[in-house]
Amino acid sequence: MTLHSSFLSIVSSPGRFLSRAHRPPDMASNSVPGKENHCLKKDESNSQHKVYLDYNATTPPAAEVVEVVAEAMRDAWGNPSSGYAAGRNAKELIDSARAHVAKMVGGKPEDVVFTSGGTEANNMVLFSAVERFTRESREGQNTTLEEGVLPHIITSNVEHDSVSLPLLHLEKSRKAEVTFVKVSTVTGRVEVDDVIAAVRPNTCLVSIMLANNETGVIMPISDLSRRVASISQNRSAQGLPQILLHTDAAQALGKVEVDVQELGVNYLTIVGHKFYGPRIGALYIHSIGHLSPLLPMLYGGGQERNFRPGTENTPMIAGLGKAAELVSLHCSSYRAHMKSTRDYLEQRLQVVFGDRIRFNSHFPGTEWLPNTCNVSLLRPSILGREWLSQCRHLLASVGAACHSDRGDSPSPVLLSSGVPLEAARGAVRLSVGRETSQEDVDMIVKDLEQAAKHYEVKAEHK
Ligand SMILES: Cc1ncc(COP(=O)(O)O)c(C=O)c1O
Repeated sequence: MTLHSSFLSIVSSPGRFLSRAHRPPDMASNSVPGKENHCLKKDESNSQHKVYLDYNATTPPAAEVVEVVAEAMRDAWGNPSSGYAAGRNAKELIDSARAHVAKMVGGKPEDVVFTSGGTEANNMVLFSAVERFTRESREGQNTTLEEGVLPHIITSNVEHDSVSLPLLHLEKSRKAEVTFVKVSTVTGRVEVDDVIAAVRPNTCLVSIMLANNETGVIMPISDLSRRVASISQNRSAQGLPQILLHTDAAQALGKVEVDVQELGVNYLTIVGHKFYGPRIGALYIHSIGHLSPLLPMLYGGGQERNFRPGTENTPMIAGLGKAAELVSLHCSSYRAHMKSTRDYLEQRLQVVFGDRIRFNSHFPGTEWLPNTCNVSLLRPSILGREWLSQCRHLLASVGAACHSDRGDSPSPVLLSSGVPLEAARGAVRLSVGRETSQEDVDMIVKDLEQAAKHYEVKAEHK
């Protein structure tokens, strides 16, 4: 998507930003050539042209989503708990959104709880697992475990902060034991055998993301769930806690098909603003309260069946439902479009830079998100941040948005995944979206090339 404005004005004028956006990509790919290309060529030197390639950080809300949110704000402002028409209207919108969100992940509407976002959904699962373990131990279940044993949670060393930081907190405050399983530096994935090897008698939860936000690497959750289920089967008969499985699907939804039945998870985190929805989220819980326990983090007015009380944010929930509906309808064409654009981007980068670059998402035999290209400039040896800073058109980042205050230290995710230090220092994360075109790619490859030349010239004059 080529943006004819500065980033700030893009954000402040979403109508303009959205005018081309969010048609299904089958239409989008046909619609890219023509008028807009002409305009793009004419103004190529104009640094006001911006190409947003940071869709893993966030996505703009789809035009249909904005419409539904605005409509709900105007027409469905009633309290969904009120029995009269305005309230019923709001409740119907929420019910319909819940059905769409459930359908997107292949689950049942009653297994969806709306949250403020991914951070809350992730925290809810982790704290819930700890509290349940503690309750069960107090009630005399988990009989094989010694008194006072803490719950044990297994995760990976490349999770998003909204998983790793609550776990570090639980560990530090002596409320849980945590194993951070290292991802393989060969495959970039968490290996199932390594997770299984980490299981202890007091293990109660495994939390592994479905796709990594920096490398895009897709984790083997289905294989993991089969192994965890077979271990967990006899544990309650042995007086041990059941092992529940959570996956944070924030980065996978809207890019690849996600099906909770196939994944076999107890919990799955959903984040609206990663798939052109509003900035709220949801948690899928398989057979809530029966097969998968959930304990609230908040107490209040009983909304969301007491699992997440507080008067529902009807407009945003309605928008999330619309975004989910679009994913259900168009995911395969979104995926195909993003993949062909990302592949084209990588081909162009390879042609222009040859062996001066390294692709950090390429691991033998490992699948990664169809929209993600994590790439480092090796020669001249500069930081990813420096490379981006000389780009006139490209809007991208060097890694997770929540680590933008990390300064110039290399991404721990890349280092953990086996990316050499020099490459990790020079990495930029380019993530394409539903409307990114080949013309956009041509423009940013030239942009990256002139930015690299700037440093070459500088080095020559040293
Ligand atoms: C993998 C992953 N999980 C969770 C989140 C958290 O989502 P939010 O910041 O919207 O709560 C993000 C957002 O960047 C993410 O990439």
